[in-house]
Amino acid sequence: MDAIDVIRAKRDGAALSPAQIDWVVDAYTRGAVAEEQMAALAMAILLNGMSRAEVSRWTEAMIASGERMDWSALDRPTTDKHSTGGVGDKITLPLAPLVAACGAAVPQLSGRGLGHTGGTLDKLESIPGWRASLSGAEMLDVLAATGAVVCAAGGGLAPADRKLYALRDVTGTVESIPLIASSIMSKKIAEGTGALVLDVKVGSGAFMKAEAPARELAETMVAIGADHGLRTVALLTAMDRPLGAAVGNAVEVAEAVEVLSGGGPADVVELTVALAREMLAAAGLPDAKDPATALADGSAMDVWRRMIVAQGGNPDAPLPVAREEHVLRAPASGVLTRLDAYGVGLAAWRLGAGRARKEDPVSFGAGVICHAKPGDTVREGAPLLTLHADDTSRFPRALDALSDAMEITDSGAPDLLPLIIDRIA
Ligand code: URA
Repeated sequence: MDAIDVIRAKRDGAALSPAQIDWVVDAYTRGAVAEEQMAALAMAILLNGMSRAEVSRWTEAMIASGERMDWSALDRPTTDKHSTGGVGDKITLPLAPLVAACGAAVPQLSGRGLGHTGGTLDKLESIPGWRASLSGAEMLDVLAATGAVVCAAGGGLAPADRKLYALRDVTGTVESIPLIASSIMSKKIAEGTGALVLDVKVGSGAFMKAEAPARELAETMVAIGADHGLRTVALLTAMDRPLGAAVGNAVEVAEAVEVLSGGGPADVVELTVALAREMLAAAGLPDAKDPATALADGSAMDVWRRMIVAQGGNPDAPLPVAREEHVLRAPASGVLTRLDAYGVGLAAWRLGAGRARKEDPVSFGAGVICHAKPGDTVREGAPLLTLHADDTSRFPRALDALSDAMEITDSGAPDLLPLIIDRIA
């Protein structure tokens, strides 16, 4: 095999053969295909796409580049959720213990935030003592003891994806739907979950701003799951406004704890319960305890506490609080018709909640609290947003990010996406 032949084939619009795909992914992972050759191939894939057979094989080859986890020692079925990421998306925090409380096991490998969307591990690390890095044996112990584990993916899982993702990041090829779908699905299949629910976000705060490409991504991932014998369902959900009221790290943990206490914002509760029901059904547990009951009766909270303790955290310790705050007030009375997810996410990032480079630290206390959501009536001078940061010098640029993010009109209804736009199975 020759890398140039594989690049030319895709450049000229041909479908790659299974042997070509297996070879090029393996040779790239070993360093036998050069970075510039894989960059050219990734661009050819971005421009010419891949068939369902090609994308499934590409995913298979990326899984085969590393280890595959196995949870067959557990006495209950496994099920997991992956979100394409959004602003205020803390759903994993209440969801994993909730699904465990209803009878399934949730082995979730999560990531850190980059850019304006937050990462689950950054949020959980704001809990004093909590540890993201676990060995495979520790993961199994936590899962067996509590039913849920959320931790960092080890280096052995889909190493081809890690290398390729870093290359795509600097070559303008992140946006290829077959490459995104195979990247996400290779990690989830290698993680060894028995069922998977995808939360594919749509809107300004999401990776996919428009519904059509989000739908195509969801359909591609569901097809890859089916081709690998993994029961996979996708929900398309709204990310045109932030999810819930809190955007940041510790502030999102506090909101997740409110949900686990039976309260919390209605949209976070609705999406958590909908995803939990999907995860239980996909795991083959349609008659499991209803997730809404497990939130109300405290059983999901019990699992949360055990899960945090099992990873070294103290669920009773006070969460970090930022040193400074700035309140943004309504300039007029009326209806809040727009609160743009991207603007709020960018503000939280500039306040210190997110990072610009992978190695940067995050501020656990930084973030934004939204006191009103689109559709709410607000009075002139009432607080709309509170910005939290460790340093007042961060406020001006955060306020810049918010300058076009809000709209108050005399009357009228906001033009919002439905929270759950569609279900794809
Ligand atoms: N997330 C991933 O894991 N991979 C992509 O390609 C894009 C988002």
